[in-house]
Amino acid sequence: MMPPFSLARRDPATQSEGTVAGYAQTFQRWPAQPLVRRPQTRAELTGPANLARRLGAVRGDLAGYGDRRAIGQLIKVRARIVDEDGVPVSGALVEVWHCNAAGKYIHPNDTHDAPADPNFYGAARMVAGDSGLVELRTIKPAAYPVPDTAGWWRPPHIHFSVWGRVWLSRLVTQMFFPGEPLNESDAILNAIRDPEARRRCIAELAPTTKGTQDALVYEYQIVVRGRGASPKL
Ligand SMILES: [Fe+2]
Repeated sequence: MMPPFSLARRDPATQSEGTVAGYAQTFQRWPAQPLVRRPQTRAELTGPANLARRLGAVRGDLAGYGDRRAIGQLIKVRARIVDEDGVPVSGALVEVWHCNAAGKYIHPNDTHDAPADPNFYGAARMVAGDSGLVELRTIKPAAYPVPDTAGWWRPPHIHFSVWGRVWLSRLVTQMFFPGEPLNESDAILNAIRDPEARRRCIAELAPTTKGTQDALVYEYQIVVRGRGASPKL
């Protein structure tokens, strides 16, 4: 019988696990020794709470308006945060970050020779409403090459971090876009062995009649735990 406060074991089919050919960082990061399960304590699982108050939400708009509009295809991402039973996780703190429409992050480690966009910062923080929904208005990120990998390009993607009630209940994952050829060869997406689990990482394009007509709408669901949990990426 499982102790009451242990984490579920990682599912090697639906979660990225171990070392992955062509993904050099996994050889540096994945432990050489067998993993040891350390049950989380009651104190760890009950606080600190009120994360949204401590961190503060930032409006979910990275695209800007008028002469401060970021360059790129305007999109809206409607992401729903749910638990293993499909119940909305209202109050979840959701952070996103992604590169600009030229494939450049605002980060000192980004050495890609692509231009920065002065109107694009690239990170937002939102709080899920009662329906578990957050809506991000932004521009579609571009693909970018991964340094020192002899030709690996990341497909367009958006990084997501979801916090539940406490600091330790955090899921970090990535949202991909449908129909992108680079999805087929991406070492990070394809480190997930189960095709259905990979499919759940890819957003769906809503009908173009949906929304305000000035932006494509992508719908995406993040499952925070259980057999259908979003992969940790
Ligand atoms: Fe990225």
